[in-house]
Amino acid sequence: MKIYLSICLILLARISFGQTPIDVNKEFALAAKQYALMLKTHPDTTKFPQSTNPDGTIRNMPSDWWCSGFFGGSLWYLYERTKAPALKEAAQKWTMALAKEQYNTGTHDLGFMLYCPFGNGYRLTKNAAYPPILLTGAKSLATRFDPKVGVIKSWNKFQDYTYPVIIDNMMNLEFLFWAAKTSGNKAFYNLSVTHADNTMKNHFRPDYSSYHVVCYNPDGTVAARKTAQGYADNSAWARGQAWGLYGYVVMYRETKDKKYLDQARHIADFYLNHPNLPADKIPYWDFNAPNIPNEERDASAGAITASALLELCTYGGPSAKTYYQSAVKMLESLSSPDYKANLGENNNFILKHSVGHKPQKSEVDTPIIYADYYYLEALHRYDALRTKTAFRS
Ligand code: GLY
Repeated sequence: MKIYLSICLILLARISFGQTPIDVNKEFALAAKQYALMLKTHPDTTKFPQSTNPDGTIRNMPSDWWCSGFFGGSLWYLYERTKAPALKEAAQKWTMALAKEQYNTGTHDLGFMLYCPFGNGYRLTKNAAYPPILLTGAKSLATRFDPKVGVIKSWNKFQDYTYPVIIDNMMNLEFLFWAAKTSGNKAFYNLSVTHADNTMKNHFRPDYSSYHVVCYNPDGTVAARKTAQGYADNSAWARGQAWGLYGYVVMYRETKDKKYLDQARHIADFYLNHPNLPADKIPYWDFNAPNIPNEERDASAGAITASALLELCTYGGPSAKTYYQSAVKMLESLSSPDYKANLGENNNFILKHSVGHKPQKSEVDTPIIYADYYYLEALHRYDALRTKTAFRS
């Protein structure tokens, strides 16, 4: 009877979504083995796995690099699934290795660097040592917000401009919302809303694609709209679209203001309906790259987008099913040999084929740590949706 019921449920899931479920257990088991190998080659917690050098060797980076939090964050996602004590121990170690970055006021990337490891670690273990570190980090991040300009400054300088803001900056807001709730300090909340509103006003084109860099004047007016990592100032850099989508999904989750949900849906629709999105739904590194189809794919953009869509679809609306099915297609593609490495290959990263900074010829078609992080997050979200459990408490 039990078996019969299970078969019925599986058939029902296939009919309603029209897709074959991804084997989440298998994917997490392989990823955990891959990262066990990564841990073996990384005894030194000042060298964070990042990507692959042009000569094929692993590229490690220090704790003040913007990606340093993704390794610890990925270890937490693996621990969450496997409950393996060794993964918990490793996650704790690689998380605490970032504690000193709580005082870093020279970067806007503290959301990635601190919230991915400490935030997930706290969610899973309630380790009392983590919130004070996160709250100090949130204060450091908030020093980069000038109320006269109305946005968090990304870099201290870009070309001739001294107040550049990149679309990626939307990814810091989840961290600040956590800080607002935990500390009771509404300033973090207000700051996030102001940043998101100004980004919505200044970063997006009429088709809801986004510029990468908006450079501000001291009075909050726009001095220039540019790109750093995209093909051209007017192009749609794939990961930038993914960061923006994810950011506005979080804005809706945290505020329940419908304008953010509309924005997220518009961004998703731009992405999913773009004629240059390949059939496997993993984008080229820039939607307007000049030599499509002979351009590199960016698996990281695919993973971030899949994760964002798997939350967006839970907010209903006429496109919810499309968002879900598109995300599943992205996850299926990423889980296929086209993108997923075999055990012991790929410098022990899970996914192949991301693009970091093509104009600088840096990390072009390599594994990159944040692709792995958002892939694991998306697998959790996919599984939670399939089993109807809440992904985040
Ligand atoms: N935040 C920088 C990047 O996405 O490459």
